Amino acid sequence: MAKDKTVFFCSECGFEASKWMGQCPACKSWNTFAEEKVVVKKNTAYTPVQVKRPAAMSINKVEVTEEVRMATGNTELDRVLGGGIVKGSLVLVGGDPGIGKSTLLLQMCRNLSDKGTTVLYVSGEESLAQIKMRGERLGAKGDKLLLMSDNDLDNIFASLENCNAEVMIVDSIQTMTAADVDNAPGTVTQVREVTSRLLQIAKKMNVAVFIVGHVTKEGTVAGPRTLEHMVDSVLYFEGDGNAGFRILRAVKNRFGSTNEIGVFNMTENGLEEVNNPSQMFLNGRPVDAPGSVVVSTIEGSRAMLLEIQALVCDSNFNMARRTSVGVDYNRVNLIMAVLEKRAGLNLAGSDCYVNIAGGLKLNDPSADLGIAMAIASSFRNRALDSGCCIIGEIGLAGEIRGIRNIMQRIGEAKKMGFTSCIIPFSNYDKKTMDALDIKIFPVSNISAALMLLN
Ligand code: TYD
Ligand code: MG
Repeated sequence: MAKDKTVFFCSECGFEASKWMGQCPACKSWNTFAEEKVVVKKNTAYTPVQVKRPAAMSINKVEVTEEVRMATGNTELDRVLGGGIVKGSLVLVGGDPGIGKSTLLLQMCRNLSDKGTTVLYVSGEESLAQIKMRGERLGAKGDKLLLMSDNDLDNIFASLENCNAEVMIVDSIQTMTAADVDNAPGTVTQVREVTSRLLQIAKKMNVAVFIVGHVTKEGTVAGPRTLEHMVDSVLYFEGDGNAGFRILRAVKNRFGSTNEIGVFNMTENGLEEVNNPSQMFLNGRPVDAPGSVVVSTIEGSRAMLLEIQALVCDSNFNMARRTSVGVDYNRVNLIMAVLEKRAGLNLAGSDCYVNIAGGLKLNDPSADLGIAMAIASSFRNRALDSGCCIIGEIGLAGEIRGIRNIMQRIGEAKKMGFTSCIIPFSNYDKKTMDALDIKIFPVSNISAALMLLN
């Protein structure tokens, strides 16, 4: 006998409660509780399963089969996936509406089907004609690319079995329904159930499944957070809606590194790979402008040059305004406090705005010194030599701390035509660095670095 029970779920994080609440105790968001029905199956007594083979075995005896990877024909996407698609894996692709999730996945389908892999693209949002129109712009044709416009999971599984596809795309998990679950599509129960069934089918049929997920205002996949725990990889597509470029970032990956990013440019003919991101991010940089500096950061396995801009001006209010775009706000406040206390810059009465040009989100601490120099440069209204690149993390005592992969960062600066680098003293290695065709300024504290601002 099945009995219906009503529970309330937080639509942001999936928190479950027996009554409605204004604020979610788990994620603290307001007005997110929605009522859902769950069917409770009658409790059956637990009967232990008969063990036929040893349940536990020594780690030495476990047989490993090399995971089979399929190249997507797109180097940026392959890099983020950790070297290609793993068969039988479940990948979640999240991002704001209109960022290009469907475009990226359809392009991937085009590449795979051109190489003879059968792919099934299921959309619950667009009609077949709409997908085809987009496909034509992307040059997707070929018999191996199968389209389907449906929201019913059973239908989807039936056609998957019929067509023997090796890769399946489910465009938007929020539109899919499992027929035997009563809740509306997009609700926590439905999303969770559909994902768990997709996971089973992916493992059972050895099909790589990509699911598209919409993102909430806060930037997490709408619906329960638990979704991220169930899947093998989570990729987020981000970028400034106005700027043409997009960043694909792996935030979880069971088959590769999570720090990798892929850079794309949205054009009329779909997403183009950007193989030299430094060049793109530095494009249009003002020369000899106070407040503009270049830092060398590492994203995944790749060094990348970025421009940091700061604007410091007198405040008209009692409370100075601080704004940061692309870097952590608290980090900027910390750096300003260090500048104030350890380098004697009187910033208390100044507004300060910090921006990463190009709209990239930066969380590499090695950009600290660059942020500090940009702020000081704007405050003193003196430009830093535009051929100089800055690398270093700042500590609370005003010391410049060493960072990893220094040679790779300097190498990138040199490749992009920079003539000098400011680096942490602890990373300075006279022998190797003197041989480089680039001037190195090792600094050990913030005051020493500010002396280089002429
Ligand atoms: P889309 O992939 O539909 O976004 P999502 O699935 O993440 O919601 O991307 C739609 C945007 O991309 C839309 O604003 C138009 C733009 N676009 C191009 O600029 N060029 C193209 O070739 C395509 C297909 C889309
Ligand atoms: Mg879409």
